[in-house]
Amino acid sequence: MVRRAAVLCEDGRIVYAGPEADLPPLGDTEPLTLDIDGCVALPGLIDCHTHLVFAGDRLPDFQARLGGSSYGALAEAGGGILSTVRDTRAASDELLLDLCASRAEGAASHGVTTIEVKSGYGLDKRHELRLLRTVAACDRRSIPELVPTFLGAHSFPVEARRSEAARQGYVDTIVYQMLPLVAEQGLARFCDVFIEDGVFTLEEGRRVLETARDLGLGLKVHAEQMSRTGAARLAAELGAVSAEHLEHVNADDLRALAEAGVVAVLLPGASFFLRDGFADARPFRDAGVRVALATDCNPGTSPTVNLPLMAQMGVLGCRMTIDEAILGVTTHAAAALGLQDDRGMLRAGMRADLALQTLRFPLSSPRARP
Ligand code: NIG
Ligand code: FE
Repeated sequence: MVRRAAVLCEDGRIVYAGPEADLPPLGDTEPLTLDIDGCVALPGLIDCHTHLVFAGDRLPDFQARLGGSSYGALAEAGGGILSTVRDTRAASDELLLDLCASRAEGAASHGVTTIEVKSGYGLDKRHELRLLRTVAACDRRSIPELVPTFLGAHSFPVEARRSEAARQGYVDTIVYQMLPLVAEQGLARFCDVFIEDGVFTLEEGRRVLETARDLGLGLKVHAEQMSRTGAARLAAELGAVSAEHLEHVNADDLRALAEAGVVAVLLPGASFFLRDGFADARPFRDAGVRVALATDCNPGTSPTVNLPLMAQMGVLGCRMTIDEAILGVTTHAAAALGLQDDRGMLRAGMRADLALQTLRFPLSSPRARP
């Protein structure tokens, strides 16, 4: 924390950030000055894991879970991700764009200026590409910058659940049809896979991720969320930029993530909403793994765009320090998107990308502040 600070920006870049007393001479140019006395200036917050493009809601699932049903059982019964796939496929392009844009604007009101957005509620070639085009259209229209991730391997569509051959056919479609088109048309920067018992196996995940890597996409993995599958080790082996969820990692997994420099993205909103235990961030830190925090915004396990709330849960639920939680939604979140040299820090050379937080709920009188 730097008190009485100043940030000087030029041509969209920060040229100075630090004590106001050390502000470099401005020469002849008369800068536009914003007096933000009483505000905290942070790097624009970065939500590095969301599923922002979907239609419909999951209120029936929520009601059923309150009555004792489990997330897994509802998914088996045709609710869960598949019910959102039905609603999303049925929605018009305009509706999907409006929904995505209003969620992005909602995030912006919390100080978020960069949002990673995954496809994954289309689950066939046409709809997965349509979702990624929606992300591109939304990026042109909304204040936050959207970073697209292809998540065709989010679940198996109902058509692929009829037989083992149909299941393998869906993996083939991802590998031979969807990924080449996504790469060729520049529709995604990353490829993600949901590796989990009953969803994609480790071997299926490896096939998808290796293909994506060979096509030049960065890699992310939904790993060890409900059970331990070995997905975190796979993320380390393949040089993924990040591994997400990670509630069920062990010490060897953490060593592998640290050695490979994979960022761990913890998603406490999903733990909270599913009434599961929070991941404990301390073993990650002790192993030398950088930890980011994200909303996981999606209708089934974390229906929120409130990233500052995730920072609070990082502290109160995942046992992070306050500084670690702030790094988790700025510097480390930038690293989880490969953007660490461009944003996520208030430092000369970084993008002029700030979130200003007014102290609307001051705990001490403004005059008493040093
Ligand atoms: O990140 N883990 C997989 N995908 C989402 C849940 C998606 C859904 O339930 O619609 C998640 O928690
Ligand atoms: Fe997710």
